Amino acid sequence: MRMSLGASLRLVKPEAPVKSLKPGNKSGKVLAIAAQKGGVGKTTTSLSLGSAAARFFGKRVLIIDLDPQCHVNLAMRDQVHVGGGALSDVLAEKGALEVEEITTSTSVDNLFVTPPDPQLMTLEDRLSGRIGKEMALSKALEVTRTHYDLILIDCPPNIGTLTLNALAAADQVLIPTTPTALGAAGVSGLIEATREVREHYNPNLDTLGVLLTRVDGRNARTNDAVYQLMDDSWGELVLPVQIGVNDALSQAQLMGQDIYTYQPSSRSAEQYKDLAELAIERLG
Ligand SMILES: Nc1ncnc2c1ncn2[C@@H]1O[C@H](COP(=O)(O)OP(=O)(O)OP(=O)(O)O)[C@@H](O)[C@H]1O
Ligand SMILES: [Mg+2]
Repeated sequence: MRMSLGASLRLVKPEAPVKSLKPGNKSGKVLAIAAQKGGVGKTTTSLSLGSAAARFFGKRVLIIDLDPQCHVNLAMRDQVHVGGGALSDVLAEKGALEVEEITTSTSVDNLFVTPPDPQLMTLEDRLSGRIGKEMALSKALEVTRTHYDLILIDCPPNIGTLTLNALAAADQVLIPTTPTALGAAGVSGLIEATREVREHYNPNLDTLGVLLTRVDGRNARTNDAVYQLMDDSWGELVLPVQIGVNDALSQAQLMGQDIYTYQPSSRSAEQYKDLAELAIERLG
């Protein structure tokens, strides 16, 4: 007996993924911490800002370690509790899983992180050919955001799929840079990427500002020249808070602790607390 054409063709009816995570009662702001250049303080800023927001401003904070180098977890290894799952699996799923389902807690009250995931390195391949791959993180934060006041995303030092996902998911972007000409060039690249992401994926993306980090007071002439260059180009985007160079930040990371555990009385601890206050105010 011959089957009718209709009976032999089995068409798949697309269905929206069902999320099992229940919504919380918060409306978290998402801040991507991104720069095209390496070593400008993205991870140090993610950690210190996140820790300050949780400790001093009563915020429930999640830091997403989106860099396959896993530096957030490495730098805070003494304080991150074992547990959680792989962020790359969440992002490779077609929207059923939420980031909240793989997070882990830390010894700092109200501070949570995503565990280290070197497999993020291969995510680009896993997502290749998928339409809307830049929106994977945004979708995986839809319910997660209702569980936090603040979600910080520590980005890798390039503008690839991972950073584009961060920008597509974010309310605002914070761009750290060292006070150097090359740093300034990297900021321009990131501002351009932000403009494109706003046009194609996330019309509401705003820039919180450009943060000068590792500012060495002994290089006053260079600092002034670079600051002038940045002020001419980006004006008020250059934040009034700056982070001075301070070995205590590197030492804290060597010990696997945040700066408020390692040296709470340091200048950097105070500066990052000021930054947290400013960021919380600007994120609204
Ligand atoms: N204000 C500072 N003073 C002194 N050292 C700093 C300061 N900020 C960061 N560092 C150190 O500089 C190095 C790079 O900082 P960090 O890892 O935060 O940069 P990054 O932009 O995240 O780098 P990557 O692009 O590799 O992810 C680290 O060893 C860190 O401890
Ligand atoms: Mg980093």
